[in-house]
Amino acid sequence: MSATTKQPDTMQADSAQALRGRIEELGPWFHNLTLRGIETAPNHFLGDYPEVKFASFRNAIPEDLTGMKVLDIGCNAGFYAMEMKRRGADRVVGMDVDLRYLRQARFAAEVNGLDIEFRELAVWDVATLGERFDLVIFMGVLYHLRHPLLALDLIHEHVARDLMLFQSMQRGSKDVAQVDEDYDFMAPAPFEEPGFPKLHFIEHRYAHDQTNWWVPNRACVEAMLRSCGFRIEARPEDEVYLCRWQPAAVPPDGPQCVYPVKGSR
Ligand SMILES: C[S@@+](CC[C@H](N)C(=O)[O-])C[C@H]1O[C@@H](n2cnc3c(N)ncnc32)[C@H](O)[C@@H]1O
Repeated sequence: MSATTKQPDTMQADSAQALRGRIEELGPWFHNLTLRGIETAPNHFLGDYPEVKFASFRNAIPEDLTGMKVLDIGCNAGFYAMEMKRRGADRVVGMDVDLRYLRQARFAAEVNGLDIEFRELAVWDVATLGERFDLVIFMGVLYHLRHPLLALDLIHEHVARDLMLFQSMQRGSKDVAQVDEDYDFMAPAPFEEPGFPKLHFIEHRYAHDQTNWWVPNRACVEAMLRSCGFRIEARPEDEVYLCRWQPAAVPPDGPQCVYPVKGSR
């Protein structure tokens, strides 16, 4: 053997070194993924995130997604998209507005040998996909949006077909008061109830992040989902909901009061 021929151990060390280097180049990572034994965000402030979160609701999602199409909106580095592909989904599309995260997602999927389409796309543009998905994942995005109800309306109108896995940061009371059909103008007491739906507006920053705009309480999350045509089937984790598409109630100001449906068909 010549002096320059490498032993298998050395080759492995070289390729681990190269992988580590590429992971560093692509960082910083929000998703801690384990790529061939190397973690992308080992010092994540939430621990082994999102694995620790997923552990508490992984059983709420069908184990076998064969024949299904999945859309992960705000996919970040693709943790959930990859999990769904591993469950056998026929087609998985991940979308995000941040190219940095999309580069990470594409790289991670390639290392893991998973065929996933990643698109640079904002939730506002879901209609351009021109297809519906059996499972839409909309986790950790709502509170980053200036127009959260519009996002849910668009998802309902254009891409959701059946299930939606949803998560939002929540603050305030976890009580959920009964929602009445109407309220008396002269009786403001319901607004003081902890369980009345409340959406807290963040004018500047929350947790040093200027993209945190609205933080709902639990009652508000649930009311918004219902209002946009998502029936809540389960809350397998404190902030996570599994919902099912149902026809949305037509608002009194008309079905196209907020955004045009045109351009989607
Ligand atoms: C808190 S991270 C959540 C990531 C992942 N869904 C999860 O639950 O771990 C929010 C993600 O949403 C993306 N995002 C923010 N605004 C968006 C928008 N308007 N449309 C699509 N994605 C968006 C961000 O780039 C980021 O990757």
